Amino acid sequence: MKMVKIFDTTLRDGEQSAGINLNVEEKLQIARQLARLNVDVIEAGFAIASPGDFAGVQAIAREIKGVTVCSLSRAVKADIERAWEALKEAEDPLIHTFLATSDIHMKYKLNKEPDKVVEMAVAAVKYAKSLCPKVEFSAEDATRSDWNFLCRILGEVIKAGATVINVPDTVGYIIPSEFGRLISYLKENTPGIDKVQVSVHCHNDLGLGVANSLAAVENGADQVECTINGLGERAGNAALEEIVMAIKTRAENFQAETRIHTEQLIRSSRLVSTLTGKPLQHNKAIVGTNAFSHEAGIHQDGMLKNRMTYEIMTPESVGLSQSEIVLGKHSGRHAVKNRLIELGYNLTETEIDQTYQRFIELADKKKEVSDSDLEALVRDEVYAMEDRFALDYLHVSTGNSTIPTATIRLKKDGELIQEASCGDGPIDAIYKAIDRIIQIKVKLDEYNIKAVTSGEDALGEVTVKVRENGNAYVGRGLSTDIIEASAIAYLHALNKISRSAKQKASPIFT
Ligand code: KIV
Ligand code: ZN
Repeated sequence: MKMVKIFDTTLRDGEQSAGINLNVEEKLQIARQLARLNVDVIEAGFAIASPGDFAGVQAIAREIKGVTVCSLSRAVKADIERAWEALKEAEDPLIHTFLATSDIHMKYKLNKEPDKVVEMAVAAVKYAKSLCPKVEFSAEDATRSDWNFLCRILGEVIKAGATVINVPDTVGYIIPSEFGRLISYLKENTPGIDKVQVSVHCHNDLGLGVANSLAAVENGADQVECTINGLGERAGNAALEEIVMAIKTRAENFQAETRIHTEQLIRSSRLVSTLTGKPLQHNKAIVGTNAFSHEAGIHQDGMLKNRMTYEIMTPESVGLSQSEIVLGKHSGRHAVKNRLIELGYNLTETEIDQTYQRFIELADKKKEVSDSDLEALVRDEVYAMEDRFALDYLHVSTGNSTIPTATIRLKKDGELIQEASCGDGPIDAIYKAIDRIIQIKVKLDEYNIKAVTSGEDALGEVTVKVRENGNAYVGRGLSTDIIEASAIAYLHALNKISRSAKQKASPIFT
């Protein structure tokens, strides 16, 4: 069996897509989960793109061990220096530099002749190599490039010291049979290619990102670049969970395997969805809520007789627990701690205490606390940060013949402040009252609500996306009361704006 490497770019290509804006702590949380998932490479960001990107790469490089940590850089000295500055404390750093190779990009975007592009690529790889032992070169828009030019430039960067060459389908244009042929052609015609790793990076504009990546694996690719939940520019990147489970389920076909701990897939997907505020479609392969539910009578009958009639992989193999309901109000700290360990969480004693405190409050309101509830509490409590604004009191009056009105009391920098407002609905009234206290102009872009589990006493999880000064901030709130969850979610987003304003020393808050 060949070992295919999984290069995760959720924190770079995923994070750079529209409407996603993770802070450093959130990036670290995702990186820790990617390490648990056992990916081979974490592309932690594009260090030169912003101070936040730099800080994210640096924090991940410093903390995450046992996995290669990478930063993207254009093929210019300043970018490569910045990438190295952020990466240099990593246990196993990788500089990823890229330059476009298609005629259309070279002519219109770079305004450079092909010879000049080769020269720049070689110089960039040589410089990166002088700093870092592992260097990846990407031929941007490779799938619309001339195949012989690709062989030439890739051969030259290999000579210059690249250890990985990447073949991106930047605009999601190629189809699987053609991509398979391209990978074979490159392997046969690129000087020195047998000494380096061949990577592929597929976008999903035609919905073929995963199929193209798998065709490349069948034709000799050593590494696949992908993202959790298929996040990424435009229609996204190839979805990590789909590639990994296709290779695992059809291993005899691919004669390949990955190192991924597949039981961590659902948890990774939920964490990324929560922190980015991007909900998943229900029928999303592998990680969608319906991916393992069987509704049709004939299917259910078959499943009862033998699960293999309609199940090609088990829910357990991707981390969906069959024995969901486990704990109740009589469960002690020890039982909660044990269940968290069984679920794969590696929390400190303080984090367990925090989660247990929330568990007791929830168990008081809810008879049975499921694994999903517990995981939602961990995401909400352990991954939360110290807040400047906290909800102290909330009263809402609403109905079909009353004007919705909310009274809110917030703790703002330790002081209690109260306000009231009317609105088009109860949530609108709450948000207007909060705005009066905090006095900041934001636009509510998205509001989503979902039940963490089924049942009348289910926890409600609200996710909001607000925009301030062109930047998007995601907030989450968790409560058995959806009105309270809505207020907490909004405050969570406003707290993030306050934190980022503080970092930039901006006077937007009074
Ligand atoms: O899609 C692309 O071409 C990229 C490269 C920078 C690898 O993301
Ligand atoms: Zn990309």
